Amino acid sequence: MTCDMQKPQNMVIVIFGASGDLTHRKLIPSLYALYDQKMMPDHFLILGVGRSSYTDQAFRDRMMQGVRSFSELNHLNESELLQFQQSIAYQQLDPSKAEDFPRLKIRLDAWTEETGSPANYLYYLSLLPSAFAEIASNLAAVGLNHSTDGFRRLVVEKPFGYDLESGRKLNDDLHKAFEESQIFRIDHYLGKETVQNLLVMRFSNGIFEPLWNRNYIHHVEITSAESIGVEGRGGYYDGSGALRDMLQNHLLQVASFVAMEPPSSMDADAIRNETLKVLQSLKPLRNEDVANHVIRGQYVGAHVRGNWLPGYREEEGVPSDSRTETYVALKFFIDNWRWGGVPFYIRTGKRLPTRVTEVVIHFKPTPHTLFQRDHVCQHCNTLIIRIQPDEGILMRFGMKQPGAGFHVKPVHMDFHYTELSDQHLPSAYERLLYDAMLGDSTLYARADAVEAAWQFVAPIQHMWKTDPGQKIHGYPAGTWGPEHADGLIEDSCMGWRYPCKNLADDGDYCEL
Ligand code: BG6
Repeated sequence: MTCDMQKPQNMVIVIFGASGDLTHRKLIPSLYALYDQKMMPDHFLILGVGRSSYTDQAFRDRMMQGVRSFSELNHLNESELLQFQQSIAYQQLDPSKAEDFPRLKIRLDAWTEETGSPANYLYYLSLLPSAFAEIASNLAAVGLNHSTDGFRRLVVEKPFGYDLESGRKLNDDLHKAFEESQIFRIDHYLGKETVQNLLVMRFSNGIFEPLWNRNYIHHVEITSAESIGVEGRGGYYDGSGALRDMLQNHLLQVASFVAMEPPSSMDADAIRNETLKVLQSLKPLRNEDVANHVIRGQYVGAHVRGNWLPGYREEEGVPSDSRTETYVALKFFIDNWRWGGVPFYIRTGKRLPTRVTEVVIHFKPTPHTLFQRDHVCQHCNTLIIRIQPDEGILMRFGMKQPGAGFHVKPVHMDFHYTELSDQHLPSAYERLLYDAMLGDSTLYARADAVEAAWQFVAPIQHMWKTDPGQKIHGYPAGTWGPEHADGLIEDSCMGWRYPCKNLADDGDYCEL
């Protein structure tokens, strides 16, 4: 623990949907990583609940397999693992049956009594959102939603609805049993170290803020590329698509960190008020904006490095005539004084050439071109904030090429997190679980922000649903998506960092 780290109070973490993938792949390995760093409470119980039948030991064994396979720690300490697993238990319970909840209460009360700890309970709903409202109300029915003897917190996983209406309904349903201050909506992008670093970089350095506005920034690009396809999740993904799965939540949250005003303090509400203002200032998209400034695509089968990758429609669980987008690119504006007139571009897709998420700030060129022949370098000032992988920051600018004349060459100044070799880079879940245990909701999505994000994407959802003329472009697996997306950025000199075309010409392809 570093000196500014607090130890959370004793508590029970109740994981609903405990036999699902997320629990043993992410949640338990992250809780173990916290344990390894002495960041777990002195006394805690991780209680998995679900319909499946497990003994405590069978459940522990499965969780330990998860730690062994998915832990991001460099080493596993066997005796520590053994101690850790003693704090894991399981209770069979049908989350949809109110009559099962008194048994849960008895178990929780027993733990509180045994350990003499306050009745602090953190509920993690690792289930489909359709189950959230029922569980919240079942918890409330046995008084497990509020208490004066300890805290009651509810952590929920996305998707937070599938459109504005359902997003509002979900919020309303949760608010019937829990207050907003008790609800922690996980957006794992906010748990990523480099996303948080956006705040530190912007607000702890005097040099960036004066440039961080429409006077100096030409446009902002956010690219989130995945090389994987839908990985057996075709059934879920086909009802979602890239707009709902990535853009409405993760990428709009990242955009709001890039664009927000300095908060008055690091208090959760101070920060979340500022990110909300960005989402509320997104310029509403008209029908013609959707038609011209939103590109959707779907990958089709192609050979990639000698291997045949099937198209989206050939994936398991995906209908052969699916019109679900696996790629979306969007141009939009933020209507406020700082950003008025600066285009923002977001794109995300599956089966792109590589896995990379980065924010690229493209600065305006110099007002006067002195070095005519190297015109391209008038446009080369970019600040690249690499969110993953190889997390870091890179600044690109022009320097004199040694020798006669004044030839300008783009060069890089860079920082990689891996250079901090003695530091463990916490995973997103590790950070977010720790914050939830402490009751810090700064990096969690608030109800109003979720609704503002749904409101912004609503015209896109509407047009795609109601206008059969809206195109969906096929793109070969392993490429940077539909070529049409290159045209979104109108300035021919300043395109995406990785454009769809002419990739071979881009010397710094995917290098930070
Ligand atoms: C999830 C999406 O929220 O984020 C997935 O449902 C996506 O489809 C994933 O693959 C990407 O997360 P990361 O951390 O790998 O960028």
